[in-house]
Amino acid sequence: MLILGIETSCDETAAALVSGDGTVVSDAVHSQIKLHAPYGGVVPELASRDHLRNVRPVIREVFSKAGLSPSALSGIAVTCRPGLSGALLVGVQVAKGLAFALDKPIVGVDHLVGHLLAVFLKFPGAPTQPAPEYPFVALLASGGHTALYRVAGPAIAQINELGATRDDAAGECFDKVGKLLGLGYPGGPVIDRLAKDGNPDAVQLPWPMRRKGSLEFSFSGLKSNMLRWVNEHGLPKDEQAQKDLCAAFQRRVVDTLIWKALEAARAERVSTLVLAGGVAANRELRERSAAQAAPHGIRVVVPPFKACTDNASMIAYAGLHRLAAGENDAGALLMSPHTCLPQSTKKGRGKRDN
Ligand code: KG4
Ligand code: ZN
Repeated sequence: MLILGIETSCDETAAALVSGDGTVVSDAVHSQIKLHAPYGGVVPELASRDHLRNVRPVIREVFSKAGLSPSALSGIAVTCRPGLSGALLVGVQVAKGLAFALDKPIVGVDHLVGHLLAVFLKFPGAPTQPAPEYPFVALLASGGHTALYRVAGPAIAQINELGATRDDAAGECFDKVGKLLGLGYPGGPVIDRLAKDGNPDAVQLPWPMRRKGSLEFSFSGLKSNMLRWVNEHGLPKDEQAQKDLCAAFQRRVVDTLIWKALEAARAERVSTLVLAGGVAANRELRERSAAQAAPHGIRVVVPPFKACTDNASMIAYAGLHRLAAGENDAGALLMSPHTCLPQSTKKGRGKRDN
């Protein structure tokens, strides 16, 4: 099998070719970070127009890198939700056009399911880790979502949300704090880099919601506390003070994510915790989660860095199972509920206010 994945839900235009066993044959990502950076967040109108410009080039690129022609495809998988509607429509319409012209089956994929299954992707040449066994608990932390899931298999019906954020997503909190500290957009990777050499105990910040027994998150309070801290003390006076503040902030976010994720894994009696989404690229989250999970007999599995942030390989992989089962959404709107996880988070993806 050879699946073409297409992803345009937010600020990355991506295409990938993935084979039946999850091997990434070729992939391409055009990032819009530079386009949105001056605004401190994603501007939906600019995102849609940039997807229009780049969707054909990224698709061409994956075929030329692989030395394959579209006739080799078994089917097409495209992100159908959640996301910015104008941005999603670019990918969906291109995918539908291709499927029609090539007479290939097409399936719509929930972007969140893509993130949850990214851990199964195999990148030739990259060190391989043993794939997780179902069922596992997954922490999905990205710019638009933060939630915990029990994943019993790759189908929508096998994925259950255990708890989600009541307000801001973890990545959104990183980005807003990055903007507050004048670190540019997106703030997550910059804060991660600065925090590495900072002292997390140099600044005392309150913990974001850590009630025992609750698997819900809330990061808006921490964001407000950072604003209050800056209003009171001013921006950090030197490089070390900036690193310390980033380290203190990051420690609060990371420890809260780990604490709740381990609570969920123990409650669900699973021995594997999967980290997914852009925030799973965070160095401290990757290191500390593994160390804190081990004493509980829980193994933490994290996708390679490039599979954490938005990409089309994960979309192709998530669509693979339905295509292999002979399913085809060609006649449907592709945004129908059976292709999507129930949306229970209060703030939907794409509703970020910058
Ligand atoms: O999954 P993703 O690429 O897009 C969404 O689906 O939202 O996640 C992007 C988010 C951004 O908020 C970005 O700041 C965050 O992931 N992120 C990080 C790191 N790398 C990306 N957050 C913390 N540490 C990182 N190293
Ligand atoms: Zn994403």
